[in-house]
Amino acid sequence: MDIETIKLSILGDVRGQLISLEANKNIPFNIKRVYYIFGTMPNVPRGFHAHKNLNQVLIAVKGQCTLLLDDGTEKKELILNSPDLGVVIPPLAWHVMSQFSPDCILMCLADDYYDESDYMRDYDEFIEYIRS
Ligand code: TYD
Repeated sequence: MDIETIKLSILGDVRGQLISLEANKNIPFNIKRVYYIFGTMPNVPRGFHAHKNLNQVLIAVKGQCTLLLDDGTEKKELILNSPDLGVVIPPLAWHVMSQFSPDCILMCLADDYYDESDYMRDYDEFIEYIRS
């Protein structure tokens, strides 16, 4: 399994840094929804689901966390620790975010609206779904 990462360009000058996210340019889809996760705790992992159709990009705009991706065959872990690092979560990728730093703000861009029916929150159901 290859994890697709995106190196976002930093537009900086003496006043500070800036990163721009543009649909179908540096973000590989139409962005329909943005949400962010904050106020997390290092010992409280979250995620534990896969989507049937949703494409997402995760960016730790502040702090850091660990992302585990599992395609049902292989598991890979990656640390999100920079606002210029985007990680693509494609459909059918079981994912778990953990080891949040206390200051972590994890921003998620998605190509569709929130839809609970797109979630698989049971690991066995996920495995069954990808094998069928
Ligand atoms: P959930 O997807 O379970 O969070 P995580 O994957 O980070 O553990 O979402 C937590 C709650 O928020 C759940 O009740 C669904 C709701 N929610 C929305 O209403 N809209 C959204 O865009 C998202 C991502 C979640």
